[in-house]
Order: sequence, then structure tokens, then C-alpha cells
Amino acid sequence: MTAQQPQAIYLEDYQAPAWLVTHTELDFELEEEQTLVRARLSIKSNPESGGKRQPLVLNGHEDMELLRLSIDSQVLDSGDYRREGELLTIANVPDQFVLECVTRLLPHENTALEGLYKSDGMFCTQCEAEGFRRITFFPDRPDVMSIFKTTLTAEKSRYPILLSNGNPVASGEESDGRHWVTWEDPWPKPAYLFALVAGDLEVLEDRYLTASGREVRLQIFAERKDLDKLEYAMESLKKAMRWDEEVYGREYDLDIYMIVAVDFFNMGAMENKGLNIFNTSCVLAHPKTTTDAGFQRVEGVVAHEYFHNWSGNRVTCRDWFQLSLKEGFTVFRDAEFSADMNSRTVKRIEDVSLLRTAQFAEDAGPMAHPVRPESYIEISNFYTLTVYEKGAEVVRMVHALLGPELFRKGSDLYFERHDGEAVTTDDFVKAMEDASGRDLTQFRRWYSQAGTPRLNVTDSYDEASGEYQLHISQSCPPSPGQEHKQPYHLPLAFGLLGMDGTELRSGVLEVTAEEESFRFTGLNERPVPSLLRGFSAPVKLEYDYSDAQLLMLLRHDTDGFNRWDAGQRLCIRLMQEQIDAYRPGAEPSVPDALLNAWSELLLDEQLDPAMLAQCLKLPSEAQLAELADTIDVVAIHEVRKGMRKVIAEALEQQWLAAYQRCDLKDVAYSPDAESIGRRSLKNLALGYLMSTGREPWLELARQQYEQSDNMTDQLSALTLVVHSPHRESADELLQNFYLQWQHEPLVMNQWLSVQASDPAEGALERVKQLSEHPVFDAWNPNKLRALIGGFCGQNPIHFHNESGEGYAWLADWILHLDRQNPQVASRLLTPLTRWKRYDAARSALMQKQLQRMMDTPELSADVYEVVSKSLV
Ligand code: PHE
Ligand code: ZN
Repeated sequence: MTAQQPQAIYLEDYQAPAWLVTHTELDFELEEEQTLVRARLSIKSNPESGGKRQPLVLNGHEDMELLRLSIDSQVLDSGDYRREGELLTIANVPDQFVLECVTRLLPHENTALEGLYKSDGMFCTQCEAEGFRRITFFPDRPDVMSIFKTTLTAEKSRYPILLSNGNPVASGEESDGRHWVTWEDPWPKPAYLFALVAGDLEVLEDRYLTASGREVRLQIFAERKDLDKLEYAMESLKKAMRWDEEVYGREYDLDIYMIVAVDFFNMGAMENKGLNIFNTSCVLAHPKTTTDAGFQRVEGVVAHEYFHNWSGNRVTCRDWFQLSLKEGFTVFRDAEFSADMNSRTVKRIEDVSLLRTAQFAEDAGPMAHPVRPESYIEISNFYTLTVYEKGAEVVRMVHALLGPELFRKGSDLYFERHDGEAVTTDDFVKAMEDASGRDLTQFRRWYSQAGTPRLNVTDSYDEASGEYQLHISQSCPPSPGQEHKQPYHLPLAFGLLGMDGTELRSGVLEVTAEEESFRFTGLNERPVPSLLRGFSAPVKLEYDYSDAQLLMLLRHDTDGFNRWDAGQRLCIRLMQEQIDAYRPGAEPSVPDALLNAWSELLLDEQLDPAMLAQCLKLPSEAQLAELADTIDVVAIHEVRKGMRKVIAEALEQQWLAAYQRCDLKDVAYSPDAESIGRRSLKNLALGYLMSTGREPWLELARQQYEQSDNMTDQLSALTLVVHSPHRESADELLQNFYLQWQHEPLVMNQWLSVQASDPAEGALERVKQLSEHPVFDAWNPNKLRALIGGFCGQNPIHFHNESGEGYAWLADWILHLDRQNPQVASRLLTPLTRWKRYDAARSALMQKQLQRMMDTPELSADVYEVVSKSLV
């Protein structure tokens, strides 16, 4: 391979920065054709970087035009510095100096959506992880923290709103119709937290009084048409601010907190200091256009970004290998917040489902990496489920091992000790150790070892002595670059139940050895173990349950999560047997014992509908795929569909009763946990009814579609009809939905997704046509995720069609998108990276597309890294 191949960088090569930037003054002249940026950096050598004076090395993207460079007002000519690739080096600089730099940017041509770009006519920025180097030359690394002062100048009529981090300190008008605003952020921060916004925006305003009595101005900005969709985010923000005071003792630290909604955004949202920028999909919410899941997402993401103000901004990351320091911890914090605001068990079930399907699959794939990766080529590829979700599980285990009080003591110490610093995951663990007196040396392996550990549990019971033992052995399969794993330290929450459901014992075992046994005495009967309660560790647990034991746990376990999990285990076992034995045309079956148990659950009006809905959902196709040795997409799809039909028919009257019981007909829509739970059971019931294929239920779905006052019910009905064999109705409703919502981009994303995931014949042709449809916009990441992500991720039987055309279609898109938006291209590539999990014919076809990409010159570092690692 040529020398131009992107190079990996390694954690072990970390060196403290040679130069610090104490103050950063930025001046933006925002114009239609170009933006001029004047930067004034106060730089001094870092006393902690080891004596000898080093050259000044700054990062700067190749596309950025350098107009002028000076040191202490002395203009440098091209002989004084060297510009090579992404680096600018100045060999001779004094110990302390002011560097001035003028750059020219072309935001309207920025399709990568990193740095300064335009979204629907407004200017905005995205600097994490390495976008600031597209704005000016700077030591663009998170351990260089600086105090920012920013002035924005732009035409007032087009850009009446000019925002940046911190507080506005001055403003004025020019004679030529332009105006300017200066912002000062008193808190030192790394460049990745810098942001600006300029546009014609409306605002929803509110105020918040902090625990210590300071008043904070809250502002959420959006385009005029979306002004009616901001209230829920505002309520969520205030709840999050209160919660962080109560649960972590953390107060907000500026006079203003701003959120801006933008339609073009690579990720969900960004925690820029005092000026969060959000993907519209994570901030706009209205009953008519947003589903329950959408409301919950807004609540969770608003909280997540707010919580970053402490876990991420006040205490930040030393380098990008430490990404989970802020992300894992913040996901844990937002998950606990959502659990407190809604149903704790349901939130846990949802998070674990995601982990078990997508994160476990990542762990088993070519991009597997530890929570703290050891190397990367492109850091954007490491905003992963492993860093976020598994990282959160690791923090959750610390919480379980220490208990809530010591954990709080540890987080207090962490925030106090490291306030204003850029630190490592190790510093986090150390604070937890110091506050609790516990030794977490072995526990640290969760940060350094990749892969999903397996726990194998067996037990023994001695009737004569009443002694019961749990024998636990652990192992972890190899992952790229890590052949052998050391044993983990993990909390195993458990209960021991009598066969009638009485709880005999409960507690938390600390597992540390490769093999160990735990002894319980005084048991008069052989107990049924309820293991890994609440999913107390991110592992695969194997225990040879009998069907009768699982049914008992499904009925009686006092741990809601394990109740659900027992049902899932039972279903998975049944489904796997039939998947393994699958022959086209075979009739799936469901044993009476399961039908009876489900029937009993459905009749139990005491049960929380949200919980019931979770328990009565069959494991997803993605979950079954993750568990398979070789993934048979057709067998998985057909068996699941067939079993649904059997269950639907056997319990038809009960589904109808549940539907009617949960119908909130004359009550105004509210996204509270209880109503959400009722709607989820209602729509699950409607789904089963539709699975019978009987005419009256199609009518019921159509009626729900027409009469519902909210997007949850409307979209559920639409999806069920579109994904049913009733083609005519499907086309009619799709057309109707389009006409009703064509002016709402977020609803149109749903419209695209529903069609992209439609399992009916001809799916690839349909998505190809949709990619030509006027609502589709190949520059917009949300549209790409809805259509391409929807087809390749949510429509396995068609994406994996044996012709290989789905693979080729995706590869065509990746190669096209790689030139305009590498981050999005690289993410959409994920399904192809799993090629080793499929049968020989499919995996050869997938590999062929990967090879085709590999052979394409000038791939971005993003796509290059994923493709090259996948082919190993
Ligand atoms: N830091 C953001 C978050 O998790 C995610 C993000 C990463 C957004 C990179 C944009 C770019 O809150
Ligand atoms: Zn985050």
C-alpha cells in the first residue's frame, strides 16, 4: 500500500501538549460567498511538557485557506512556517507570544458538516471531535483548554440572531446593514466545545432558578415553522437541571443556556458550552408529528447534553481515547434520569435490548474495541455503542459495586478534584477508589479488554444439608489484537426463588475469578436462581433453565427485568429450534405452555401495560441474528413471522380486549410514562391482530390511522398496514400520509423508514425509486439514515437478498457519499462489515463489495478504516 494510506495513532504515544493557549479571540465575518476568521491566540509553553523548547505545531484542515499569519504582530512569510497535510509547523517561537491568523472558509460548500457549515440558510458549527481545525489553525486536542471570546458579524436582515458560547458582552450595528455581537465564555474549554450559530431564528424562552438561587435564562432556537415544537424540550431541560442538582449536586454555571435546532447534523446533538446544537430529530416534539419514542428521545438527549456540562465540559477528556470518560458516564447519567422520570424497568429493558443486539454485534465484529480504545485511524469511527452504551454499563457496575452513597462520594470527589482539567478514565476510577476505599485494579480490565464476556453458571443442591451452590465460570472470546483475556471483576445481582415464586435469598455476588463457587445454606428446597438481575453486568449469561423454571420466573420474579428476560429466554430457545430446523413452507408452532403463560399475563389487569407490552414482544430479528452462529435471515424472518401469527390467532380475543382496554380515546395526548405504556400495549395488540391477516383488523388499523390525534397511533397503524399483505390499503395510506405531512421533514423521515423496512417483495426497487423522490435529500444525514439505513439495517431479508444487489446498492451509496460526508458514509457501512456472520454465498458477495471499496482510490480515512479492518 502507498504511503498515503491514513495512519493509526496510539494511546501509548500520548504526550502532554508542548504549547498551551490561554486565551482565544475569534472574529467571524459571515458572508454568503465566504467567511473570514481572524484568530488571536495567546500561547505559552507548557511547563509540564518536559523542558526543552519545541516547535509550535498546529492542526489545520487542508481545505482551509490561510491568508495571514503573524507572531506578536510580525507577519510571517512562507519561509517561516511549514504546512504539510493537516499540520502547520513554526520552528522558532518565543516562550510566550500572540499568534494571529486569518483564514478563509467556504461554509456553503461544506457538505461534511464538520467545522462551519450551513444548514437551511443558517450558519452553524460542529467541532467535536476534530472540526475546529476546519475553522482556524489551533492545537486541536482536548487537553488544550482556552478562554474564548468570539465576535460574529453578519448581515442583520438575514442573520438577526448571532450566538456563541458564554454570555453576550457587547453588540452593535454597522452602517452597511451588518451587525455584530461579542460573546465571552469565562470557563476554559477545549476547542471541540466551541460553537457559533447565525440565522433567522425564533426562540422559546424560560428561566430556571438554581439551587443556590441564581437565575438562568433558557432559550431554545428553531426555524419559525417549528416554534410550536419546543415546549417539551424546555420542560425536559428544566427537569434535567433539577435532577442534576438533586442527584449529583451539580449546578449550572453560566447565565444563559441555549439550544439550537438544525436540520443538517451528523449525530444526535452536541454539548457545546452554553450553546448546544441539536439535530431537529432530538429536540422538536409535538403530539401531532412526534411519536412516544420521539418524545422520550428528546427528553433523554436534552438531559444527556445538559449533563455533559459537568461530565464532559467542566471535567473533560485528556485525549480521544478517553472518550468514554464523558460519554459512558453521561449515558449512565441520562439513563438514570429517564428511569426516574418514567418506568425504570422499561427503560432498562430498552437499553439492554440495544446493547444485546447492536453492541454485542459490534463486539463480535471486525471493529470491536475496548471501552477505551488503544488506537484509531479516524476518531469519528469510535463514537460507538461500545464507548457509549457499554461505557455506561461499566459506570453502572461501579455504582453497583460501591452502592449509591459511596458512588456519590466518588462522583463528588471526581468533579472536585478534576474541575477544569482534561483527564482519563483511570482518573475517574481512581476517584471512585479513593472515595470508597475499594480496590478497582481488576475492575479496570473493563476499560482495556474488548469483547462480550460469557458467564457460565451451574448449580448443585444437597438436600440433606440444605446447602446450595452456584458455580460460575467466565471467559471472553478473542477480539482484534487481543487473543487472551484476563478475568473480569463484576457484580452479579441475584435472587433464589422457591418454585412457587417466594424469594428465599437475594443479593449481589462479586465475581472475580475465572471459576468460583458461592455457597448458600439453610435452604429447604432446591431454589431457582434468578441471575444477573437488572442486567447487572454486560455479559452473556448461560444457565440451563428448564422451561418450567423460566415460566415460573416470567410469572413471579420480583425483579421486573428478569421477569421479562425469562420470557425472552424461553422465546429465543423456541425460535432457535425452529430456525435451525427451518424448511421453506414449514409451519411454526408455539407450545401451549407459552400460550397459557401469555394468556395469563394478558388477563392480569394489575400488570403495568408498558411492562406487559415488553413481555409480549417476541425477540427481534436483530437479536436472533446476534445469537446465531451463522445468520439465516430468511429462516429468522419466517419463523418469527409464523410464530407471531400462531400467537395472534390463539389469543385473538385477548389481543382485542387489551386493545380496547388501553385505548385512550377521549383523553388528550400526553407523553407521560403511563399513557405511553398504554399506547405501546395497544399498538402491540393491534400488531398481533393484524398478524392474523383477518379483514376486520385491517379495518381497525385504518380506523386508528384516520381517527388518531397523535403520531404514535397514526404511525403505528400506518406501519402495520404497510407491512401487511394488504397492498392497496398500504399504497392508499402512504399517499394520504405523504399529502398530510409532506411539509414536515421529520415526519417524512418516518415515511421513508416505513417503506425502507417494508418486507414485501420488490423492496430494493422501491427504495431506489424513493431515492429519486423530492422529499429525499442525499445531502441530509437524517434522510440518508431513514432510507439507506432503514433498508440496510431494518430490512434484513431484502438487504441480504441472495442476488447481492442490496450490497451493491449500499456500496454505490457509500462511494458516492464518501466524497461529501465521510462520517455518514462510514456509519452507513456497518451492515456490510458483518459479512463473516453469514452463509458462504452471502459473505462472498458482501466481501466483494468491501473489496470494491477498498480498491477505490482516495477513500476518506473514515471509510478506509472501516473497510480495511473489515477485510482482515
Ligand atoms: N458529543 C455528542 C454527544 O454524545 C455526540 C457528537 C459527537 C456529536 C461528534 C457530534 C459530533 O452528546
Ligand atoms: Zn454525549
